[in-house]
Amino acid sequence: MCGIVGIVGHSPVAPLIVDALKRLEYRGYDSAGVATLDHGDLARRRAEGKLVNLERRLASEPLGGTIGIGHTRWATHGVPNETNAHPHFAENVAIVHNGIIENFAELRDELSSEGFVFTSQTDTEVVAHLIARELRQGKAPQEAAFNALKRLRGAFALAIMFRGDEDMIIGARNGPPLAVGHGEGEMYLGSDAIALAPFTDSITYLEDGDWVIVRRGGMQIFDMDGQPVERACQKSIGTSFLVDKGNHRHFMEKEIHEQPEVISHTLANYLDFSTSRVGAFETPFDFAKIDRLAISACGTAYLAGLIGKYWFERYARLPVDIDIASEFRYREMPLSKESAALFISQSGETADTLASLRYCRSEGLPISAIVNVRESTIARESDGIFPTLAGPEIGVASTKAFTCQLSVLAALALKAAKARGRITFEEEVDLVRQLSEAPRYASQVLKLSERIESVARELSHVRHVLYLGRDTNYPLAMEGALKLKEISYIHAEGYAAGELKHGPIALIDEQMPVIVIAPHDHIFEKTVSNMQEVAARGGRIILITDEKGARKATIKTLDTIVMPDVPEFLSPIVYALPIQLLAYHTAVFMGTDVDQPRNLAKSVTVE
Ligand code: AGP
Repeated sequence: MCGIVGIVGHSPVAPLIVDALKRLEYRGYDSAGVATLDHGDLARRRAEGKLVNLERRLASEPLGGTIGIGHTRWATHGVPNETNAHPHFAENVAIVHNGIIENFAELRDELSSEGFVFTSQTDTEVVAHLIARELRQGKAPQEAAFNALKRLRGAFALAIMFRGDEDMIIGARNGPPLAVGHGEGEMYLGSDAIALAPFTDSITYLEDGDWVIVRRGGMQIFDMDGQPVERACQKSIGTSFLVDKGNHRHFMEKEIHEQPEVISHTLANYLDFSTSRVGAFETPFDFAKIDRLAISACGTAYLAGLIGKYWFERYARLPVDIDIASEFRYREMPLSKESAALFISQSGETADTLASLRYCRSEGLPISAIVNVRESTIARESDGIFPTLAGPEIGVASTKAFTCQLSVLAALALKAAKARGRITFEEEVDLVRQLSEAPRYASQVLKLSERIESVARELSHVRHVLYLGRDTNYPLAMEGALKLKEISYIHAEGYAAGELKHGPIALIDEQMPVIVIAPHDHIFEKTVSNMQEVAARGGRIILITDEKGARKATIKTLDTIVMPDVPEFLSPIVYALPIQLLAYHTAVFMGTDVDQPRNLAKSVTVE
């Protein structure tokens, strides 16, 4: 949600902090700020909007000092303006925060009644005043911070500086991640290893409840009771280079076009292409022995899991319970001891998904996770992970991570089917061979980009769009709608095609295009009937199908995107590309911020 950084070093830190914030901007970009301590002077620069505005501010009003903290914000409390931008000050305290302080209102009332004056609408400022009050009572900074932390309820990753001590930053973690970086006579704090990659690959991840005193000479970690604790120092595999757009206009376009390669890398991690067999990779539970699989995730990752449900149940005859994590975590779903849990998360930091994981942990289930960030919190709290090899995904709208998640799920479904004796040797070989063709089909579809761009021109003039699909194309219809919504701001809904007649058909008119995802598969004719229901009411259809489907669809469409003829097992992976391209080109026509759409953040680390 927000990105935080702290550096206690030996050279001017403001430019270094801005570099680190650039690597965190995907987490939120409503505003940004830096504060430094320089020969007793505690000063800050903050700016609304993108990080480039802060850079301009610092260019005209530089900050000195070899110790500092920085922040890039996704607003939770208070409008995204400079006043609410972090760092926040209170007397001799400067603080940056990622998370939500749930009891901030009562704390704010308590402090206001004692005469503390607030200048922002944020929950974060309350923490600064809490610490300032402790300092007024004569506590040392470490004790003041510790006492304040004990008053907080909610999720927080914090970095705190004190005027009067230019060799100390205090960090604290309860929920959102916080990492300590070890340098040569320098130490760092950051929301993730990617932010610290330019400085060090030697990383210590704090656990929930930990707080840390960081000085140039090293760190001391304490638990929530104030007892010293040891945490492992590990080599990060975070990328030390700043990912760039190559010759693409946007990260999203680049990442859409990376899919043949990263799908291939991901599949190769789970399948043996030389023998066309499922690979011998480990799983934290035996698919042959579990009676159900619980899946939970958010957003696009959830929709990948929904497609996975069809595959697990169809090929492995393994029942799947799936729910969005924000519901799963509070539903208290009864879970049998013979079941297992699978979480799907690109970032590995999504708060709702992490909370659902912890619920399953408390119920004694074996925990697995499909993640794109191997060092993430969800990865570290799982018994086993199934990495996607998508590489860093910078565009807020998830594309290559989605098709890589599907690739892993397809491989897992075959692994489960084999373990449960539901597929023969010949069927395994055939299905693995089919999967191995996915990158080639994806490459073919990318050649349709200009064709799809012409269709997108149509969409950029409308305000509402309906996506329809059946079977595994139903979650894909929802994913197409999500992509369009989140980057073009056009309202869109994804529906099961068979559900249209139970209400949504009332929406059909010539103002609302209906995008139908319908490869010529085992239920194609059923979808044709639904398209006829739409056409009979003046609806305008954009059909995404293959040659055979185009011939057999006995209705006039506004447009038809003809895809390569793809085996049914692969169609969700391959048909993800046209819906991504359709959303992308529409957003470009709309002139929206494709890579950093309004109101969004790449990793939602608060509930
Ligand atoms: C997808 O385009 C969105 N950016 C969003 O729905 C995302 O998939 C969701 O927030 C889950 O994120 P995660 O995969 O990092 O857990």
